[in-house]
Amino acid sequence: MPSVEGLGARRAALQMLDSVLRRGQTLDAASSSVRNLSPPDHALAVAISGETLRRLPDLDALIDSATRQSLPDDSKARTVLRLALAQKAGLGTPDHAVVATALPLVDGGPRRLVHGVLGTLLRRGLPKMDAPRLPDDVEHRWRSAWGDAVVQSARRLIASRPPLDLTFNDDGDAQAYEGVSLAPRHIRIPSAAVAELPGFGEGRWWVQDLAASLPARLIPADAREVLDLCAAPGGKTMQLAAAGHRVTAVDSSGSRLGRLRENLKRTHLDAKLVEADALKWKAGRQFDAVLLDAPCSATGTFRRHPEVLYRARPKVIAEGAELQAQLIDRAASWVTPGGALIYSVCSLEPQEGEEVLRAFLARNPEFRSEAPQGLPDFAVASAEGWVRILPGMLEDNGGLDGFFMARLVRGG
Ligand SMILES: C[S@@+](CC[C@H](N)C(=O)[O-])C[C@H]1O[C@@H](n2cnc3c(N)ncnc32)[C@H](O)[C@@H]1O
Repeated sequence: MPSVEGLGARRAALQMLDSVLRRGQTLDAASSSVRNLSPPDHALAVAISGETLRRLPDLDALIDSATRQSLPDDSKARTVLRLALAQKAGLGTPDHAVVATALPLVDGGPRRLVHGVLGTLLRRGLPKMDAPRLPDDVEHRWRSAWGDAVVQSARRLIASRPPLDLTFNDDGDAQAYEGVSLAPRHIRIPSAAVAELPGFGEGRWWVQDLAASLPARLIPADAREVLDLCAAPGGKTMQLAAAGHRVTAVDSSGSRLGRLRENLKRTHLDAKLVEADALKWKAGRQFDAVLLDAPCSATGTFRRHPEVLYRARPKVIAEGAELQAQLIDRAASWVTPGGALIYSVCSLEPQEGEEVLRAFLARNPEFRSEAPQGLPDFAVASAEGWVRILPGMLEDNGGLDGFFMARLVRGG
């Protein structure tokens, strides 16, 4: 049989989607386990998988509108239909290429069904999908926590390409760079190939969502010794080192610490790196400030990592909250009296943010919240003094990752 052009990329996308949706992998992990593809085909497979995950509930509704047969969620036929339609909706792939690269994926299976559904939908024409629905459970959770306007913003944001935020080693350098500055040492530019941008090789900046750069900005300027817990790949470590703190950076993942080491080398910055489980590590001393950027469901990063919405099941969030509670207790024990503890998560789940903080403060009355100072105007503090970044903030400027952060001070 003659080979169909671009089939390899679609086959790889099918494999990636299966790893993400059925086995709960991240798209990064799923894509790095696919080998033997040319770089352009690999990039296409990742793009198809991403577009599919951005629009999954809408794609499923379309598929169900075109057949009476019930296709199980994890059936190959449904996944092939999803990824075929996602190419049309998100990448503008021509109809004939959509069909020609989908059918061989179901050879020996429900080829006629897939052909029939695709034919019906492509003839009808796909509706615009510039604000696709999120999974029902996520919409329900976020609507009750944050309101419907936030859900509507999240729908718009998931369909669009987020801009690129750069954090600079030096504010003067940022001022001279072409782009929009929304905070000191920050520049926002349209999405681009990072390694080709000016200043990358010289290490003048690193890529870091503006929201992700806020927690390190809460470290008091006069804190000399700073402990950065759960530090890799090191966006916050680099900020702290660039601001002149003496940083000890701890992470349990050797491979992620390797990336942190490379990042420090490229940016000519310095920190002491420790590979250790923070729940077992013995610091043997206290620090003027501790930053805990805790592992979490990462649902705030849904614009770049749409699969987080499918991985963040209630059990995963509850387990995350338990780990965060243990980590913040450990982090607190290393704060010197009068010192600061910064807690942050890139999660849009109150269970991993506000609720962890509330329970921590109830267990540890020697700590109190301190309203943040020096953050950009959009980062408004709550009555408690905590900062919650939601979809919708700076939406006209390209939006922000969802985040939660708070600064606590230990009574002296
Ligand atoms: C949200 S990421 C950190 C991002 C990082 N702070 C930055 O700005 O680039 C969470 C990190 O926690 C690490 N981690 C998870 N459990 C840990 C533990 N028990 N002890 C230390 N690090 C842990 C993970 O390896 C991961 O690198």
